[in-house]
Amino acid sequence: MQITTGIITISDRAARGEYEDLGGPALKQASAIHGWQVAAETLVPDEKREIQRAIREHIARGCQLILTTGGTGVAWRDVTPEAVREIAVRELPGFGEVMRLESLKLTRHAILSRCLAAVVDRTLVVCLPGKPSGAVECLSFVAGAIPHCVEVLQEVPTSC
Ligand code: MTE
Repeated sequence: MQITTGIITISDRAARGEYEDLGGPALKQASAIHGWQVAAETLVPDEKREIQRAIREHIARGCQLILTTGGTGVAWRDVTPEAVREIAVRELPGFGEVMRLESLKLTRHAILSRCLAAVVDRTLVVCLPGKPSGAVECLSFVAGAIPHCVEVLQEVPTSC
């Protein structure tokens, strides 16, 4: 199944132009490697309403999978999990559990990440850390589960 994908970078400083968005392009490259078609890319500051609006826009543009990078940590402005949970119909805790467990083998700071996955409407939203290499690493730990999850959410007939 072709997976139409959206990528949202969540960063105050990148949105202000203080540094280049490297996380979005890194996830775009990773998506291409997985064979997912990127149909939308957005950069927003760490504001709940803007994050929610971007997710809704990507869904309206047909995205079945949305990858976000940034705002999963413990800083005061990190609100990605709160923004997503407010509009989600359900959370998929296994994604966050696996991402933290595997990332802990690479960095002790992984315990600080509140990365998660949730379902908004019928779209899978996976929230990854802000550091580009961390985002790509975390995606690699859960990528195997994504096609089947998207198929089930899209009600594509599957074997299970
Ligand atoms: N996970 C992996 N695999 N690699 C990383 O480099 N960085 C950690 C963590 N998870 C990291 C990682 C760090 S330093 C932080 S602060 C948290 O993710 C949250 O990042 P965020 O607030 O930029 O989303």
